Amino acid sequence: MFGARCLLRFLRSCSSAPCPKHKPSVKLSVRDALGDQNASGERVKVQGWIRSVRSQKEVLFLHVNDGSSLESLQVVADSSFDSRQLAFGSSVEVQGQLVKSLSKRQNVELKAEKIEVVGNCDAKDSGFVHIHTPVITSNDCEGAGELFQVKPSSKIKVPEENFFNVPVFLTVSGQLHLEVMSGAFTQVFTFGPTFRAENSQSRRHLAEFYMVEAEISFLESLQDLMQVMEGLFKTTTMTVLSNCPEDVELCHKFIAPGQKDRLEHMLKNNFLIISYTEAVEILKQASQNFTFTLEWGADLHTEHEKYLVKHCGNIPVFVINYPLALKPFYMRDNEDSPQHTVAAVDLLVPGVGELFGGSLREERYHFLEQRLARSGLTEAYQWYLDLRRFGSVPHGGFGMGFERYLQCILGIDNIKDVIPFPRFTHSCLL
Ligand code: 4AD
Ligand code: MG
Repeated sequence: MFGARCLLRFLRSCSSAPCPKHKPSVKLSVRDALGDQNASGERVKVQGWIRSVRSQKEVLFLHVNDGSSLESLQVVADSSFDSRQLAFGSSVEVQGQLVKSLSKRQNVELKAEKIEVVGNCDAKDSGFVHIHTPVITSNDCEGAGELFQVKPSSKIKVPEENFFNVPVFLTVSGQLHLEVMSGAFTQVFTFGPTFRAENSQSRRHLAEFYMVEAEISFLESLQDLMQVMEGLFKTTTMTVLSNCPEDVELCHKFIAPGQKDRLEHMLKNNFLIISYTEAVEILKQASQNFTFTLEWGADLHTEHEKYLVKHCGNIPVFVINYPLALKPFYMRDNEDSPQHTVAAVDLLVPGVGELFGGSLREERYHFLEQRLARSGLTEAYQWYLDLRRFGSVPHGGFGMGFERYLQCILGIDNIKDVIPFPRFTHSCLL
């Protein structure tokens, strides 16, 4: 096992083919390489991202771009280079000889002697397209009103009352933008800063945190969604453990003794699933006294979530089908009664409680229209309703708090200790 990991690490960090010894290469931008009129075999090094790969029997053509030019540099490589690693979007460092090209399409090309993959493009491997969702937005996705409003400073003269004509805020979630993009790409994700004006000094709340969010079209069941969530947690954790074991071990040794075993326990077991209604039953029968007593319809607090995870043998547990009244307008109505629920799912993990929040989305126009009308949001969300009018498909997604994820795998009790510049109520240093 250890050997296999080392081998993988070795393969990742080295070039795809043997590298002959040559004198040091001069580093060139793609723009400078393309502009070299006298290319005559000088050794150069170019760094950038692969824009296309064409594999022929004996040669491999790559187009590499570093943003310095609209045009890409053609790299010609021997077919012995491992083309599986040289995927669209991967970042590479190519060393070789800059020569005149025989083709009329470009003046010069780079004859590769060494290609090092700096970063694989996993988005292609897993089929998820990375979308940069905006930080400034006019929507309150979660509908909880925990928004930071964005305005020009009073010194700046703005012709209109609002700079953008409408009030705008720092994003609480990129989900609604992902839903737009999932209409084009089927599986999309975003990873970016997220802001919540939650008045909480707890060990798991920040005013600014990172969230990874995914949205999947043609997804019809919570079961399928949970599979992706569990897969994300397990693969990411195994990658972290195999790529930086020293860092993880340091935390486990000095901050959270025993965490290594707890983490392995999480990785080797299938995550459990209970419904919100079952969770309430478990909590009602608990011998522990909670600060917040729980009746069906009330939100779970951290103390409840932590109890549930312990009750489940410290294996992460999905809690599904929450009361409709507790959850945002976009979650899919389960049409059950008398206890009316939505197809929501939270993943609770040891030590932290809620790590993921997700749901099936309400893709049925009339259901969504009624929910929006009840919340007085119809006008603001016309564009969102339009997504259900034109080619709507069943879909769902989730968000995972990145700092809470680090807390969970490293065994760190306070979220403020996994981020260098924590922002929380009454504190925004630097
Ligand atoms: O459960 P939440 O609010 O879900 C959403 O925002 C959905 N729109 C996501 C989606 O479906 N695309 O937040 C998701 C996760 C939580 O489970 C938690 O891990 C983290 O984001 N989170 C916080 N982390 C730190 N500080 C806070 N104040 C957080 N609020 C949420
Ligand atoms: Mg949540």
